[in-house]
Amino acid sequence: MFDRFERKIDYLRISVTDKCNLRCTYCMPEEGVTPLRHEDLLTLEELAEVARAAVSLGVTKVRITGGEPLVRKGITSLVTMLAQMDGIRDLAMTTNGMRLAEFAPALVTAGLHRINVSLDTLDPARFAEITRGGDVRAVLAGIEAAQIAGLTPIKLNCVVRQSPDEPDARSVAVFGRQHGYEVRFIRQMNLAEGHFSVVIGGRGGDCPTCNRLRLSCDGRIRPCLFHDLQFSVREFGAEEALRRAVDAKPKCGGTSRSLIHAIGG
Ligand code: 5AD
Ligand code: SF4
Repeated sequence: MFDRFERKIDYLRISVTDKCNLRCTYCMPEEGVTPLRHEDLLTLEELAEVARAAVSLGVTKVRITGGEPLVRKGITSLVTMLAQMDGIRDLAMTTNGMRLAEFAPALVTAGLHRINVSLDTLDPARFAEITRGGDVRAVLAGIEAAQIAGLTPIKLNCVVRQSPDEPDARSVAVFGRQHGYEVRFIRQMNLAEGHFSVVIGGRGGDCPTCNRLRLSCDGRIRPCLFHDLQFSVREFGAEEALRRAVDAKPKCGGTSRSLIHAIGG
């Protein structure tokens, strides 16, 4: 699929849930957010159906996101369905890692290729503070389990306030170097003000080469994270919603007040 600006659209990010087992200060309010109604969530079969339509239109890369994808019931069966689609040559997941130790072997068996783990600091107290109660040891155990299971190359996503020189970020950089994990630093966005930023030194957030579409867990295809444009797959059907989203994909992002936790970043 090519959009109006001749960008090749071959990457679909699928948010499988709006729920998360953490409450990162930059992502969610402390009390959490009103959960979507169960009937508004796409079923695993519906999610797979959208992926199938996307693959038939030329998508070759799929990333599973959340919320936290490992809290979605049946997540490994979705991975199995996706892994069986011939056109997908890159099947990845972004997770906070809290349940990764438990899931890594099953994810590999299901056919997941690789994983990105969010890790903002190595310090247990700082981690608990940033995530409002998360356990960095569980995440580190998850990363190790993923490495052993072969979910490689493992990438670490590290949100920084200002720069990768902050102590928390430096600790993650050292850890990554020691273990051979690529660390990507992402400047914290102020979601309330709709500011957006790019992965420092990475891809994404770069409008002229943006190749992505997003599917939210309630079935809307969003052509741009920083626009409110969305096309419901339940309203239009998967293929038509995808086509409309590609045709409407803006040249460059503006601002959006949507919360990142339900779109998967
Ligand atoms: N700014 C930057 N990145 C964010 N994420 C969530 N909220 C924000 C924010 N305000 C990203 C982080 C995290 C992923 C799940 O979502 O990269 O690792
Ligand atoms: Fe959960 Fe990720 Fe948001 Fe943290 S950033 S609350 S781990 S969805």
